[in-house]
Amino acid sequence: MSIPRTGRVRAAVLAGLGAWLPPRAVSNDELAGRIDTSDTWIRTRTGIRTRHVVDPGMPTSRLAVEAGSRALESAGVSEVDVVVLATATPDRRCPATAPVVAHRLGLTGRPAFDVSAVCSGFLYGLAVGAGLIESGAAESVLVIGADAFSTIVDPQERATAVVFGDGAGAVVLRAGEPAEAGALGQVVLGSDGSLADLITIRAGGSEHPTVEQMPSRADSYFAMRGQETFALAVARMAEASREALANAGWEANHVDRLVCHQANLRILQATSRRIGISQERLVVHLDQAGNTAAASIPLALSHALSSGELHPGERVLLTAFGGGAAWGATTLTWPQMKH
Ligand code: UT7
Repeated sequence: MSIPRTGRVRAAVLAGLGAWLPPRAVSNDELAGRIDTSDTWIRTRTGIRTRHVVDPGMPTSRLAVEAGSRALESAGVSEVDVVVLATATPDRRCPATAPVVAHRLGLTGRPAFDVSAVCSGFLYGLAVGAGLIESGAAESVLVIGADAFSTIVDPQERATAVVFGDGAGAVVLRAGEPAEAGALGQVVLGSDGSLADLITIRAGGSEHPTVEQMPSRADSYFAMRGQETFALAVARMAEASREALANAGWEANHVDRLVCHQANLRILQATSRRIGISQERLVVHLDQAGNTAAASIPLALSHALSSGELHPGERVLLTAFGGGAAWGATTLTWPQMKH
């Protein structure tokens, strides 16, 4: 599904970018000291070398505020009209975390709400932010992707504990012209709820409110059917990307930087092959941060800018797949910005 943009006169334009990783880094060797895994397995099967995790008591809102304040600074603004927070690890089940984040950013009173689309949350957040701007409902939106998966994975479950890390990334969107650098292309989105068990936490929602009612301790933790997710991630990201490219009028070889949700290096490589984009154009940040769920795309963009891999005028393709299942893709030409 893509939101029709024919004849649009207003566009959402990327005006600022910020990102933050919590200070505590956990190496593969440190994990191998605790669970039955090895640096070699993690590196060769996922590409991850290290990840950052929150200290006890550091909630997702803290990550979001750090990234959000950096994005506001990058855009040179102190205010926005709306705050959208994409997260699967809200501070509490109720209320939403975005109002807390907005309050701490000095934006008390502004509309603020969470978007729940797990690892595709940032792209869903971008679509919502862009829609608010294009409809004229807002002049500027802060879109944050923030997750602390270390608080939901079973620390003893090697299939997930080695993959995920914590972090946050954010962008400021402002109203502008469709033809200017930074204008978001059509945001292609999709979902398939028949795959809800692929990536899930079974207990703790209205379906199974308490862990005690569940057959297994594992039901209270995040679970992922890795191999099935792998194949679907490649297929759906490639399809969504092709649709986003067609909407932009770009060929695959026009793309300078491919920024996939940072799930697994092998997924990134397979996706770029499937779309027909050379691997040198892949932005890879998971070696340093692991899979940071909704935060991974803005964190990867920030890394690419800091490391000189991304420049104004370059054509960027963003794509993600994750729990829901939910997926998405969009395009933009990278704008000039302070970072
Ligand atoms: O963010 C949302 C989207 N997420 C994704 O797209 C993630 C997709 N999936 C993956 O990235 C990969 O499936 C994983 C990294 C999660 C797992 O890698 P895999 O290559 O698919 O491994 P597997 O699950 O097929 O397991 C292969 C073997 C098994 O051992 P046996 O049965 O062959 O003896 C596992 O028990 O590797 C074993 N294994 C491990 N060994 C050492 C699984 N995890 C580990 C580990 N260390 N951490």
